[in-house]
Amino acid sequence: MFGYFSAAKRFLKSLSSGRRPGDRGRLIVRVVAREEANALVAAEIAALIRARTAAGKPCVLGLATGSTPTGIYAELVRLHREENLSFANVVTFNLDEYLPMGPEEPQSYHRFMHEHLFDHVDLRPGNTHLPDGMVPVGQVTDACAMYERQIREAGWVDIQLLGIGRTGHIGFNEPGSAADSRTRLVDLHETTRLDAARDFSGEANVPRTAVTMGVATILEARQVILMAFGEAKAAVVARAVEGPVTSAVPASFLQTHPNTMVVLDEPAATGLAR
Ligand code: PGA
Repeated sequence: MFGYFSAAKRFLKSLSSGRRPGDRGRLIVRVVAREEANALVAAEIAALIRARTAAGKPCVLGLATGSTPTGIYAELVRLHREENLSFANVVTFNLDEYLPMGPEEPQSYHRFMHEHLFDHVDLRPGNTHLPDGMVPVGQVTDACAMYERQIREAGWVDIQLLGIGRTGHIGFNEPGSAADSRTRLVDLHETTRLDAARDFSGEANVPRTAVTMGVATILEARQVILMAFGEAKAAVVARAVEGPVTSAVPASFLQTHPNTMVVLDEPAATGLAR
């Protein structure tokens, strides 16, 4: 119940900010070397985990997969091993999972999270959440509603990590995804399937569908950190950060979020005019 009130309060605050579609909003853009980016973002996450631990409260992280966040997970594992960072009070929700996809399959995001983070820190097994890639299609709607309910009951996401796809997707919210979209079954864009082809030994093997948190679900997070590295992301980063707010580029909806940081390396920032 409390989550509803705080979400409503944040929504009203965003309305009163006077921003219009097309405004860059309050996006904070940092351009740093990739290693520095990883250290910066991991330090931000670690500081919040420690503050919440000290206050005896849980810390809810929204997690992303793909090549972009791997360095952050490596740094978080290092902080756990070398600097006593405990994940005992951390609750996680991942953005998305392919459908169909068994949790043990090499390309599954379940497996990715175990390999890069979950198996190396003291997260409690019941505290990690990913959409179920094995849910029968007839039960997807209920499973998505349950995922939304779990996020709400956890008190919403404190820090949401995001990559960005060349289509402008965040999670698997492909072009056409609405600002008010919630966790749901989606079709993957051809470009996204092409970009995933290498992991699946060919595009034909890439699933056509996935379950993803919605744009509105992502925008509920108190803080969002979007990262992009490399020249291949420069054009879409420019559209997301400086272009109009439009469902044609779902990442552009972050311009309406009150607390989003965009962390780029030099090559990913080359399309920015400002
Ligand atoms: P990548 O994917 O991190 O592998 O570039 C990002 C995304 O598609 O969201």
